[in-house]
Amino acid sequence: MSCLLLLLPTAAYRAKDFLDAAAALGAEVVVASERRQAFARVMGDRALRVNLRRPEAAAQAIVALAERTRLDAVVAVDDQGVLVAALAAERLGLAHNPSEAVAAARDKAAMRRAFAAAGLPQPEYRIAGPRADVALLAAEVGSPCVVKPVSLSASRGVIRADGPPAAAAAAARIREILREAGEDPGGPLLVECYLPGVEVAVEGLLRGGALEVLAVFDKPDPLEGPYFEETIYVTPSRLPAETLESITRLTAGAASALGLVEGPIHAELRIDGTRAWLLELAARSIGGLCSRSLRFGLGVSLEELILRHALGLGLDGLAREEAASGVMMLPIPRAGVLEEVRGQDEALAVPGVTGLEISIARGRPVRPLPEGDRYLGFLFARGETPDEVEEAVRTAHGRLEIVIGEPSDE
Ligand SMILES: Nc1ncnc2c1ncn2[C@@H]1O[C@H](COP(=O)(O)OP(=O)(O)OP(=O)(O)O)[C@@H](O)[C@H]1O
Ligand SMILES: [Mg+2]
Repeated sequence: MSCLLLLLPTAAYRAKDFLDAAAALGAEVVVASERRQAFARVMGDRALRVNLRRPEAAAQAIVALAERTRLDAVVAVDDQGVLVAALAAERLGLAHNPSEAVAAARDKAAMRRAFAAAGLPQPEYRIAGPRADVALLAAEVGSPCVVKPVSLSASRGVIRADGPPAAAAAAARIREILREAGEDPGGPLLVECYLPGVEVAVEGLLRGGALEVLAVFDKPDPLEGPYFEETIYVTPSRLPAETLESITRLTAGAASALGLVEGPIHAELRIDGTRAWLLELAARSIGGLCSRSLRFGLGVSLEELILRHALGLGLDGLAREEAASGVMMLPIPRAGVLEEVRGQDEALAVPGVTGLEISIARGRPVRPLPEGDRYLGFLFARGETPDEVEEAVRTAHGRLEIVIGEPSDE
């Protein structure tokens, strides 16, 4: 029986999907997470406590564990664990990404530098240190621009600014968000020119440096800011074949510019007319519960595909299914306390809708972007065409009533 170590941040949405995938493969699992008790109940002794903010020490703890228990793979379920996974796998002689590559993919400033060195098309950018004149940098990249932290994800702290004074105000707001996230509020920010056009997300798998595109998602709702709340993802993309070819080429170029060679990647690009531009590429798979919209071969999940690759098992016959599918990340209408989501049965009754998961408990606070750091929920649909899928999630969303109460004065 093979044994794999899963790096699970405590707040991971996908713990269950990865554990189910390991069970489907008959693999034994050791869970490494920040709070041992979080998984000790289900995992017993096969739980290891690590501090993901101290990657060297965390990797060392995994190596020490491997002296007692054979490990065939070390897999991070999301961004927070990818550096630890790379360091540990390197020391254990397992297939891995170079740790510098993973570190660059986690730092949007380092990523911009790597893309620039490789001559890849991306927005004009400046990096703002703690005392930088952000208004001046915004004037240099042109208006409108986007100001963002180099380290957060899920569009948290990403703000469009229509001019230098607005950019300076956005930077101050982002520094507050960084402080609240436990990051350095004086850390670097990225100021970059706003790329118009439509946006796609690419889900891919690197094997020995070669990129296999698993799915390209259209994001049919406009993402024009000032905050970038993602909603609908639909695959396959409806863009023309030539555009999709340049999207694949650019994504492969981005992975290689960073030096990534193994495992899942998630890239975002903008297409202005026929020209594709890179927003970013992460060394992880799609976030939230969005992967549940993907099925490979005869019903294999993305998590199982990732684990199969990590364990060196075959991936033959595991192309994405023929059907169109999609997911809608439910928009958060306003800040407050989630009282209730009404109309769930009615939403689920819409033809093509296959699932609905509300991921915030009743009575818990909700906050929209740019401060928000949690998904409200996910609606899933399948159909013969992407248009059908898009229509299904829109209709179902229209039947939901999200009741938000007044925020408490905590
Ligand atoms: N230069 C830009 N021009 C236009 N839109 C942008 C730009 N930068 C960011 N955005 C928008 O903001 C969204 C989030 O930005 P970005 O991907 O850089 O941050 P993120 O927090 O890593 O997001 P995620 O974790 O959702 O991938 C992008 O998907 C895009 O819609
Ligand atoms: Mg992004």
